[in-house]
Order: sequence, then C-alpha cells, then structure tokens
Amino acid sequence: MENNDHNDKEFSRRNFFKAATVGLGTAIAFLLGYPLIDSIAGKGKIFINKTYAMLTSVKNIPNSFSPVKKPSKFGFTKVDQDAFIKTNIQEDVWVVKKPDEELTAFSPICPHLGCRYKWNQDQELFICPCHNSVFTIEGKVISGPAPRGLDTLPTEIKSGDMLYVLYERFELGVPQKIIIGY
Ligand code: FES
Repeated sequence: MENNDHNDKEFSRRNFFKAATVGLGTAIAFLLGYPLIDSIAGKGKIFINKTYAMLTSVKNIPNSFSPVKKPSKFGFTKVDQDAFIKTNIQEDVWVVKKPDEELTAFSPICPHLGCRYKWNQDQELFICPCHNSVFTIEGKVISGPAPRGLDTLPTEIKSGDMLYVLYERFELGVPQKIIIGY
C-alpha cells in the first residue's frame, strides 16, 4: 500500500515536471521564434500598433486654398513596436483643408522610393527632392517616376474638434496603395 502511494506521488511529480518542461520550452520557442515567424509570415509587416495619433484642433488648421495654396504639416510621437521592443518615433503628416472644411491627411513619404517630399510655395506643388516627382496639393502625381499619387491616411475627429490620424506605411514603387504596416 505504502509502495503504491509512493509510486502515485512519483508518477504525478514526473508528469508535473514533464508538463512544466514542455510549457517552458514552448514559451522560449515563441519568444525566440516570434520575430522570425512574424517576418516570414507577415513579410515584415507590423500590424500591432494600430492606434490613432492626436494632431491638433480642427479650428487650428488653416484653409489650404486661400489666400494662397498652402498645406499644413503636423508632427506627433508614435510608438513603434518591433517584436517586443518599443521605440518612440517623431513623425509628421501633411494636412490639406478645403474651403468646405474637408480634411485630407497625406503620408509624408514619397510613394516612389520613400523620400520625404516637400511643399514648394513658389510653384504651389509638392516636390520630391530625390527624383523630382511632382504632386498637386490634392496629392495627384503630375510628373516624375512616382507610380501613384500621395498616400492618404485615415483620419477621425474625436472629442468634438480634435483631429486624429492613423499613420500607415505603404509599399513603395507600385501603382496600388498597399498597406504594409503602421
Ligand atoms: S523617392 Fe520621391 S521621386 Fe523618387
């Protein structure tokens, strides 16, 4: 009888250690393998930071068409997460406000090869310094190698008057707008 008790205890102890070892092994494999799996399965896409960033009050955004054409640029801090490492990154977006108050936010990244384009006030056009792609204030490409117009970003008005933007990253050098991350 005593011998049976001893065997039962030994058996459950062995099962416990076996389960604990498998659990620990799985956790370690996940921790070490997650970035690899993520980069293979998601082809480098990062979809875990999908948060809207607050830009400014809508009433602080000037009309972009009068008295001269002029878009506004707003900066914000976004939290980037690559696997388990979080980094604060300063980003900015261009915002165009039409006379009827309609707002459009543009990614600051040129859709050709990823340079940051600028606003040229003399020509009233966006111009990319890298390969001279030229875009209208509405984001249409009018010359240069850029295969598509400027990429618009989703916006939301919250708390009555605050403009929020969802910063998205897009595939470069292709005619379609394809989201590859946030
Ligand atoms: S990166 Fe902008 S034109 Fe090439």
